[in-house]
Amino acid sequence: MAGEERNIKLSIKDLKKVFNTRNGELIALNGINLDIYDNEFICVVGPSGCGKSTLLNIIAGLSKPSSGNVYCDGKEVHGTGTERGVVFQQYALFPWLTVQQNVEFGLRLQNKQKSEIKKIADYYIDMVELSHFRDHYPKELSGGMKQRVAIARAYANNPEVLLMDEPFGALDAQTRTQLQSELLDTWQKEQKTCFFITHDVEEAIILATKVIIMSARPGRIKEIVDVNIPYPRTQETRLTKEFLDIKNHVWSQVYKEYLEIRK
Ligand SMILES: Nc1ncnc2c1ncn2[C@@H]1O[C@H](COP(=O)(O)OP(=O)(O)O)[C@@H](O)[C@H]1O
Ligand SMILES: [Mg+2]
Repeated sequence: MAGEERNIKLSIKDLKKVFNTRNGELIALNGINLDIYDNEFICVVGPSGCGKSTLLNIIAGLSKPSSGNVYCDGKEVHGTGTERGVVFQQYALFPWLTVQQNVEFGLRLQNKQKSEIKKIADYYIDMVELSHFRDHYPKELSGGMKQRVAIARAYANNPEVLLMDEPFGALDAQTRTQLQSELLDTWQKEQKTCFFITHDVEEAIILATKVIIMSARPGRIKEIVDVNIPYPRTQETRLTKEFLDIKNHVWSQVYKEYLEIRK
């Protein structure tokens, strides 16, 4: 994008995370440096245990780095903040609240009028196509629907950055594909920076502007792969040579790390 100013939305500097475990110190992350620009869609892939969730939790402010810093819009992150919305694999909805009440939850903590809260919640419930289910409780919804509620709730709070830790990991293949395309539509509409973790290489490439491949033990950034495939991306995109070439490359790099972690 020639001539266009791009702001750094998230900046990670010399991040290190050490856990004290029964077997001594475990270096989960080391030497992580990363700049993420406005409106990027970053996907992080890597074998199980390489530190993906640890990284996301530190960016979310749910966990403290052992050393190094995270900045959001130039301000250092200390703890959680409404500018960073989180969606986890396990839906984390409040079971005693309806769809409407779940989506309104964060809005009610802000100083907003009732009518405005309802308007915002209605908009995002419509966006995820759950208008007919607004008075249902989570236990009455399928996994895909619950994850739609979690996404609507995250967007309703109007964060600058959406942090998602394998949000579609528990869903069947068809529902997962459907939610991927809905998430891309929403991302294109809402222009928010996304930081999305997955162990599914195909999912990473269909979504991302950039894929970050993490190495194992200690977790580091091994490679950053630009996905220069135009949006909107469709089912056909998955069959193009461009897509398959990137997929083969990323997959083989992740597999090498997987073998490394098993040593
Ligand atoms: N609270 C914790 N205490 C001790 N070790 C942890 C803790 N959280 C994660 N780890 C360890 O840190 C490493 C990275 O974990 P994690 O970030 O969950 O990996 P990933 O999300 O990539 O599967 C793993 O070896 C894991 O066992
Ligand atoms: Mg994880």
